[in-house]
Formats: sequence, C-alpha cells, structure tokens
Amino acid sequence: MELDKPGFVIMQNGKEVGGRPGAPLDILILAAGLGTRMRSNTAKVLHKLDGKALIQHVTLEALKLNPRNIYVVVGHQASDVEATLKEESALGSVKFVNQRSQRGTGDAVISAKDVLSRADSTLLVLSGDVPLIQAETLEVLVSRHTDDGNRTAACTILSIELDDPTGYGRLIRNGAGDFDKIVEHKDATQEQRSIKEVNSGIYCFETSLLFPALEKVEPKNAQGEFYLTDVPGILRGSNDEVRIFCHDDPVEVSGINTRVELANFEAIVRDRTRRRLMLEAGVTFIDPEHTYVSSSAQIGQDCILYPDVYIEGESMIGSGCEIRSGSRITNSKLGDNVVIKDHSLIIDSTVGEGCSVGPFAHLRMNASIEAGAAVGNFVELKKSKLGRGSKAMHLSYLGDATIGEKTNIGAGTITCNYDGKNKHETFIENGVKIGSDTMLVAPVRVGEGAVTAAGSVVTKDVPPGTLVAGVPAKVKKQLIPAQEPERR
Ligand code: UD1
Ligand code: MG
Repeated sequence: MELDKPGFVIMQNGKEVGGRPGAPLDILILAAGLGTRMRSNTAKVLHKLDGKALIQHVTLEALKLNPRNIYVVVGHQASDVEATLKEESALGSVKFVNQRSQRGTGDAVISAKDVLSRADSTLLVLSGDVPLIQAETLEVLVSRHTDDGNRTAACTILSIELDDPTGYGRLIRNGAGDFDKIVEHKDATQEQRSIKEVNSGIYCFETSLLFPALEKVEPKNAQGEFYLTDVPGILRGSNDEVRIFCHDDPVEVSGINTRVELANFEAIVRDRTRRRLMLEAGVTFIDPEHTYVSSSAQIGQDCILYPDVYIEGESMIGSGCEIRSGSRITNSKLGDNVVIKDHSLIIDSTVGEGCSVGPFAHLRMNASIEAGAAVGNFVELKKSKLGRGSKAMHLSYLGDATIGEKTNIGAGTITCNYDGKNKHETFIENGVKIGSDTMLVAPVRVGEGAVTAAGSVVTKDVPPGTLVAGVPAKVKKQLIPAQEPERR
C-alpha cells in the first residue's frame, strides 16, 4: 500500500525548500545507548568531535529542517545528555523521551510511542552517533520519501556503499533491485556480509505505520535486541512501499562506534577546516597536521599559526595575527595584527588590535586588553581590563582589576583581590606607574598619574599624582604636575 497523504513544508531561511503543505515533520534522535564499543564510562553520544558532543552535532543539524518536534531518546546518562543539549541555546525546544533499559534501536523508538503513535506525521529517525549528517541530505531523503511520483512511501532508508561495511546492517535488495530486508552484521551470512550497501541508521517513516509494525518486532537475533531495522522488512511484507535513497558520501553518514572511528572523524573534520582556512581565508599553517582549529572558529587573512596551536570554540581571530607554538585560544576574540607568543592561554577573553601577549601568559574569564596593550611573561589576567597602550610585562596577577590607558604594571605586581571570603575590585587609572612587587590590597583605587614605589603594600586609595611607598604604603611626595600624566 502506498500512502497518498498531504505532505509538509521544509523551510530554510524563510523559504520553502521541500515537502508538501499539510502534515508535519517530526524528528526522533536515538541517543540512549551506552556505546559499549567505546569502552568508556561516558555515554557514546557525549563524546566530543570538533569540540561538540556527537549528539549536539546531530540535533543542531536536525533543527535546520524546521520540524514540528524534535524528540531525543535518552537512557544512559540521560540527565547528562539533556544538559549537554541544553548548553546549546538554539536547542531549547528539544523534547526528551526516556528508554528505561536499552533493548535495541526498535525498543528506543517504542519509548516515544506515547508522544508519537497517534501523530499523522512523517518521522525522520536519526542516530545520535552519526554526527556529520547534513541537513541538505536529510531534505533530499524527506522529499524522496514524500514526493517520489507524488506519493508517500511507508519508509525510506538512507543507504550508503562502504568499502569496508563491517559492523553495519546490510541492505538486501530483491532481483528487481528493490528493498527486501536489512540484515545486521552479526546475523548476516558470509554471502550477505559481502554486500557493500549498508543501512546508515537514518530513515523516514510514516508515523501511523511505524508503530503498528514495531509491535511485530521480536528480539530473535544474535544480540537478543529489538531491532528497528526489522521494521522496513515488516512493512514490505504488508505490501507497504519501502524506498532506498543511496547517498554518495560515506563520511557524512558513517556512525561512530569505536574510539578509532572517533579519531578518524576528528582528523577528517580538522583537515577540512584547515584546508578551508588555507584555500579560502588565506591563513598560513606552518605545520597543518599539528595545528587544531575548531570548524566554528573564524581566522582572518594572513594569520600565521605555528605548530601545536589550538583555536577552540567560537573564537574569532582578526587578520595578520601571529600565534606561536603551545598556545590555546578558546571562545575568544583577537583584533588585527595581534602577536601571541609561545605557550599562552586565552579563554573567554578579548585582545585588541596590535596587542602582544606572552610568552606564558594567561587571560581568562572575560579578560580584555585594549589596542596596543601588552601582557608578558607569566602574567595572569582574570576578569580584568587593561587599557590602550598599557603594559604588564612580567610575573603578575591582575584579578578583578580595571586598568586605564598608558599605565605600566611593574614586575611581580599582585592585585590581592580575595580576603578569604569575598572578591574585591582594584581600579588603576590612566598614566599610573606601579613599581615592581607592589601588592594592591583590594578594594583599592590608584589615581591618575600616581606612582607606587617598589615593594609597596597599598591598602588605601592612592590620590592622583602622588608617589606612595612602604608597608602599608603612605604618600611620600606630590608629583608635579599632580593631575597631568604623561601626554599621549
Ligand atoms: C545501527 C543499525 C545498523 C546500521 C548502523 C548505522 C540497528 C539494529 N542497527 O547499528 O543497521 O548499519 O546503526 O550506524 O538499528 N540506541 C538507543 N537505544 C538502544 C540501542 C541504541 O537509543 O537500546 C541508540 C544509540 O545510542 C545510537 C543509535 O541508537 O545513537 C544506534 O545504536 P548502535 O548501537 O550504535 O547501533 P549500530 O550497531 O551502530
Ligand atoms: Mg552505531
């Protein structure tokens, strides 16, 4: 039986790109398994590829189809999987269904029976461990399912031919080349194992036909599981149409089941990112294979990345920057012509145009250094701002501090921001010279143009234009002119 139902609309960027007006599209993503072959205490779908959990990749891509509902079947470490998806603000509308014990992919779909079995929709089923699947491919799958000859199939399977199909379910076609059944690797005969066309674990079903067919699935197989892969054969047995859409990009629809596969995928994704950056963005990699850039990072023209550099997350690097070995930049923004010297760590922070950072510097928790500023050897900035042209070149901790322009922070300066209970702020105004080994006991303010002598312990505000010294620091001299720091 073929269904001749109204379809639905797939929208992208406000435009209709597929489907037929009428019934909705729902998406179900299977993510309840432990992933025994990963040999891990962490559920497989939480392992990271290109800095994002596998399940985040799949769900973000699913969202691009603009479905009515996305359900994720969770089980193993369900609360961690839910929390990981909620980290992505775009995924706030995702709903979860619980699979109590993991008895196979068919059982995983049955867990969604309460929310889906009465739906008059097309259901796109995705695997949480097929992370590189692209929305464009899913759109073609859905339209093949709904539109072929203007009729809707009961099920359409996304298949792929693999040189090494080991582990996958094989697609068995009949003499006419049409779908016959899926046989799992562990249940397959030697002859069936030689078939290279496999099930990708991605399918479209007419929801109203899927659940009655699932009731007929029995765990009579090598793994004693309820296989979703039995459903297409059951549907075909009732003369419902099962279509196959054979895709041509094996990487896109391959699943990750082992750490070897995870590492191979990581290498593929990184390589694609580097090639794109070299060919399209004009970025130099001194040693591409040993430089790691997240696919969601942006890097400007004529940047030079040295070996063993990591650019993670949504970082944005301006043009003409030089980033030296051993440095890691995570979710941070660098302006143009910035130099990051060796072994520096920049996390959730901002570096202005023409700044110099490192070697061995650490910027974190929304630290920001403004144009032309410099942070040197063994200097840490936490939640602090260093103004235009200011410098902190050696051995300092600057936490919860706001530092003005053209100020010099001497070697060994520390903002003592924590009194054992609370954090306090330090303000250092423009044109200040903080002498070596000054301790600034927060809360405290150093006024414009002031100078602290080496070894001062500053416990009280320093008036503008004065020299303070000693422990505790006292005003020793009114500097002339008091309110006029070095001119720029
Ligand atoms: C599955 C298919 C196989 C296909 C391959 C493609 C079955 C029986 N086999 O095999 O035909 O070639 O995918 O990658 O479906 N899951 C649950 N609950 C469970 C079991 C699994 O939610 O009880 C989830 C897993 O978390 C995973 C997905 O379903 O995201 C697939 O499970 P997995 O065990 O990886 O199936 P494969 O052996 O890869
Ligand atoms: Mg799998």
